[in-house]
Amino acid sequence: MAIRDILSIPDKKLRLVSEPIKAFDGDLKALIEDMFETMYEAPGIGLAAIQIGVPLRVITMDLAKKDDPKEPQVFINAEVVWSSEDKSTYEEGCLSIPEYYEEVERPAAVTVRYLDRDGKPREVEATGLLATCLQHEIDHTNGVLFIDHISKLKRDRVMKKFTKAAKRDGHPHPAREKKANVV
Ligand code: NI
Repeated sequence: MAIRDILSIPDKKLRLVSEPIKAFDGDLKALIEDMFETMYEAPGIGLAAIQIGVPLRVITMDLAKKDDPKEPQVFINAEVVWSSEDKSTYEEGCLSIPEYYEEVERPAAVTVRYLDRDGKPREVEATGLLATCLQHEIDHTNGVLFIDHISKLKRDRVMKKFTKAAKRDGHPHPAREKKANVV
């Protein structure tokens, strides 16, 4: 197990469309372990494999409250198969866009089809935080970031800030604020 570096914008890898998982083998198990370790250490509540530079459709998540027992969840090859017309707005953050938070409107409820870590097909009807996180993470597997859902003006501003920081430091991570609900 290892904590991996989390990519930040403007890293172009974050725009890759990830490939589906075909083999449920030791490599996948090791990737999932690394993703959980990296996600918990960040700390974040969700992570897509591409955020550690691996373009595969693997998502880890843990929405348990801070002092409650851990609830690790894995979503492989996840896709939204239904979304509600009702929308909800949630302040989102992303481990790949450290210390930036903005309200994003998304469908309030979604049905997501995925494979669990053993390759077993599953479906979940999600609302609330789970619905938001699943949509945010599935977006990552498609090369989409939450800033793509906000105004162009705001997106350009945040991209410019991170591009400048990356040029200046060669490493665009500002010190991470310990804030919950970062995905
Ligand atoms: Ni994210």
